[in-house]
Amino acid sequence: EVVREWSGRLQLEKSLASYLNIKEVIIVPGNVDTNTNTALLQSQEAAKYLESILSDEFIIAVTGGTTIASISNYVHQTDKWKRLLFIAARGGVGKDVRLQANTIASLFANKMNGSYRTLYMPDSLSEEAYSTMKKEPFIKEMVDLYERTNIIIHGIGDALEMARRRNSSLEEIQRLEEIGAVSEAFGYYFNSQGEAVHRIRTIGVQLKQLENMEHLLAVAGGTKKANALLSYFKQAPAQTVLVTDEGAAQEMMRIM
Ligand code: BG6
Repeated sequence: EVVREWSGRLQLEKSLASYLNIKEVIIVPGNVDTNTNTALLQSQEAAKYLESILSDEFIIAVTGGTTIASISNYVHQTDKWKRLLFIAARGGVGKDVRLQANTIASLFANKMNGSYRTLYMPDSLSEEAYSTMKKEPFIKEMVDLYERTNIIIHGIGDALEMARRRNSSLEEIQRLEEIGAVSEAFGYYFNSQGEAVHRIRTIGVQLKQLENMEHLLAVAGGTKKANALLSYFKQAPAQTVLVTDEGAAQEMMRIM
């Protein structure tokens, strides 16, 4: 059993959920920036929450990143659910395959006796490639699966940090600064008001599709992400549940 009791936790969870205007906030003690044990607790809590909302034949979309990758280690090996389908929320990011949504979907599927669908393509497509790709039957199938997705598990990143990880050019990074990009999730960049100011040209979950998903599980912690979290949650769908840490939570309360 995960221990995440500390004084003031419940109050902080409640206040934060109400400030961010989302369904629930779950906070683990410590700060993932400096404490690996906190990162572990955060992943365990996310895994536990995921297991509590699963149901047979659910479609679960996952994004990439270190946070979501780690959660797959903490879901229980099981054949309890029938026909779970894990799908990549979008094409690859960066060069590290271990952190790509595709890989993470397969990790979850193997653990939970489900199947998975992947979406292999460059993270950023040219205009031409993008419109050609959209017509491909396997892409249409993915888009249809996104329409029917029951749960999405996603990370939230700092805009400039994510741009660097994607090997964006200096010009692109400057442009993101100019338009005030603060956070990034599923390939969308948001400003401090939560407006989507830029999107990388890739096939993947669309912002408007999130609205129809029953469960959105956002997992992101660390003091360094506080700004990004405040930006993203200016617009997040109300059914979102955030698993985070004390570091991010306290810092959000301080700067909001
Ligand atoms: C990914 C998302 O899951 O996580 C990105 O697709 C997000 O949008 C990123 O920015 C954050 O990565 P990390 O490694 O900090 O969990």
